[in-house]
Amino acid sequence: MEGQETIAALKRKVEELERRLATGEDQRENIVVAQKLTKVYGRGTTRVVALKEVDLRVRKGEFIAVQGPSGSGKTTLLNMIGALDRPTEGKVVIDGVETTSVPERRLYQMRRGKLGFIFQTYYLVPTLNALQNVLMPVLPVRGNKRYKKRAMRLLELVGLKDRMHHKPGELSGGEQQRVAIARALMLNPTVILADEPTGNLDTRTGAEIIELMHRLNKEQGKTFIIVTHDRRIAESAERVVYLMDGKLSDIPIEEQ
Ligand SMILES: Nc1ncnc2c1ncn2[C@@H]1O[C@H](COP(=O)(O)OP(=O)(O)OP(=O)(O)O)[C@@H](O)[C@H]1O
Ligand SMILES: [Mg+2]
Repeated sequence: MEGQETIAALKRKVEELERRLATGEDQRENIVVAQKLTKVYGRGTTRVVALKEVDLRVRKGEFIAVQGPSGSGKTTLLNMIGALDRPTEGKVVIDGVETTSVPERRLYQMRRGKLGFIFQTYYLVPTLNALQNVLMPVLPVRGNKRYKKRAMRLLELVGLKDRMHHKPGELSGGEQQRVAIARALMLNPTVILADEPTGNLDTRTGAEIIELMHRLNKEQGKTFIIVTHDRRIAESAERVVYLMDGKLSDIPIEEQ
C-alpha cells in the first residue's frame, strides 16, 4: 500500500514537472516569498520553536497543499504568511510588499486586496445573515450598493443564491464554508490562505468545497495555500510541501 502510494506520488511529481516544462509555467512571478522564517513561542520551559528557517516561494496562480503532523507548525506558517502574527526571524513578501516590516497599524490595510482567509470553523457572525457576513470585510460601509451587488454575485458564484438571507445556524456546514469563501473573496485577494477548510465537513461536502477552490483557482487565477490533512486536497494540489518539527521539505514525510 505504502509502496503504491510512493509510486503514485512520484508519478504525479514527474507529470507536474513535465507540465511545467511544457507550459513554461515556471515563469510565473513569485506572489509569496517566505525567507528563513523562524517562530519561537514562549520562553524558558515553555519555549517552542514552531518554525525553523522555513523558505517557501509560491507562484501566482499556484494551488499548494501544506501537510504535516499535528504540531508541526502548519497553522503557524499560515499565520506568518497571512501577517496575522509576526515571525521571530525571517521575512515574508506578499505581492512585492515586505509584510514583516509593515507597522502593526497598517497591517489591516495591507491585507485588504492581497490576502483572504478560510478557516476550519468558518468564523461567521451568527446574528448576521449570509449576505451580511460576506459584507463583513467592507464594514462600516456595507450599505453601499456596489458592495452589496458584489457580495450577492459572490454568493451566487459559490452556489448560495437562494440562501442569502439565511443565518449561519440555518445553513449546513458546507454552506457555511461557502459563505466564508465568498467573504474571503470580497476584497478580491490575490492569495487565499486556508487552514483545514474541509476539516469539519463530511466526505461529500468536503469534495464540493475542494472543487469550488479549484474552480476559483482556474477561473479567477487565485493562488491557494491550503493547510490540510485531507488526502484529496493533497492529491489534487499542484504542489505539496511538508512540515515536520517546524522544518519544510518537498519530500513526503514517510519517504524521508
Ligand atoms: N500561541 C502559541 N503559544 C505557544 N505555543 C504555540 C502557540 N501556537 C502554537 N504553538 C505551538 O507551536 C507548535 C506548532 O503549532 P501549530 O498550531 O502551528 O501546529 P499545526 O501543524 O497547525 O498542528 P495541527 O495540525 O494540530 O493544527 C506546537 O507545538 C504548538 O503547541
Ligand atoms: Mg493547525
